[in-house]
Amino acid sequence: MFESLTSLNADPILGLMAAYRADTNPEKIDLGVGVYMDSRGRTPVMAAVKEAETRILATQDTKSYVGPAGDAVFDELMAHLLLGESLSGKLHSRRYTIQVPGGCGGLRLAAEFIAKANSDARIWVSNPTWPNHIPLLGAANLKIETYPYYDYENHVIRFDEMISTLKNANSSDLLLLHGCCHNPCGADLSRDQWHAVKDLALEKGITVFIDMAYQGLGDGLDDDAFGVRLLAESLPELIVVSSCSKNFGLYRERVGALTVICQSPSHVPAVSSQLAAIARGIYSMPPDHGASIVRVILQDPSLRSNWELELTEMRDRINSLRASLVQRLRDARVKTDFGFITQEKGMFSFLGIDVNQVRQLTENYSVYLVDSSRINLAGINDGNIDYLVASLTKVLAENQ
Ligand code: LMR
Repeated sequence: MFESLTSLNADPILGLMAAYRADTNPEKIDLGVGVYMDSRGRTPVMAAVKEAETRILATQDTKSYVGPAGDAVFDELMAHLLLGESLSGKLHSRRYTIQVPGGCGGLRLAAEFIAKANSDARIWVSNPTWPNHIPLLGAANLKIETYPYYDYENHVIRFDEMISTLKNANSSDLLLLHGCCHNPCGADLSRDQWHAVKDLALEKGITVFIDMAYQGLGDGLDDDAFGVRLLAESLPELIVVSSCSKNFGLYRERVGALTVICQSPSHVPAVSSQLAAIARGIYSMPPDHGASIVRVILQDPSLRSNWELELTEMRDRINSLRASLVQRLRDARVKTDFGFITQEKGMFSFLGIDVNQVRQLTENYSVYLVDSSRINLAGINDGNIDYLVASLTKVLAENQ
């Protein structure tokens, strides 16, 4: 039966990992996949994670099944992290959180859940958005529409166009927003813009669905959750997928949570049982190890404060790299002003170069980045910034 299958191209982001590994150029630079790297270009296990693992190893006395909803204590702690203690307490009877296998697992589960509630659901995603949103949501047959988001020329959000496009949405539609650190462009809604989106969602009856993959990597754990919290307290319903891949560095453990806020406490039993049944039909139950780590960290005040300090260091490093890259490019007297990079948040920004220039950077200089020109700032360090700036300067000069 397999003779009917055709080979597919590698995933546009994950394919870069393999290409980078295979490159023998000692000066190669990885600005591709969204993984945090330290000043030595490594993605170390966070110290708080190591400590939690040691404790788990010493005390865990069973490997029995956890069940489709995962670890109930983890679920509760993730709701608090996302919503803050006070709001999560206020919404307690109307909210439900289920552990999921990473952000992707959560997005896919949410998409199937939405399709169960409304088989004709239409979801509006930003242009641009993370490319994997499309297959994850499309696999559940959600109809995908796009709204304008990033102005590539002026490096700002096309907010007026976004709102006027979304005026065409109706009460059976969903709106996908990035909670913070927009992937791929790094341009986040301002607080006023979050308020305007909230007003629009209320006026049109749109259900908002937030992908929160980078909480803590923009401005801080609470500041990054401003939009989620505003919408959670203002809208009757909300869906949020939060990932622990980046902020806990637990990429390969596949750990995250899906939180649904319902209009009424009476809707929670249907929501929770539907989610459990869908999870059972796809992967049965989520892996436990990563969620146990997060639970141990969030439950212990001193471990939690160590984790927050490590996360702050990561965030500060990325922000200082934004400033250094812009300064080095100014020093190199490139004609383009890259100052916008310092205004953006999280791991990513576009360089704003075209796909041919991206290919030149990769093929001639072994600098790996996504075709859209998205770079992972965390891949820059003192040892490679000169080479990166020199390579980019040459590519820009060749194409003037
Ligand atoms: C990215 O955007 O690079 C990350 O979220 C990794 C992925 O799965 O695409």
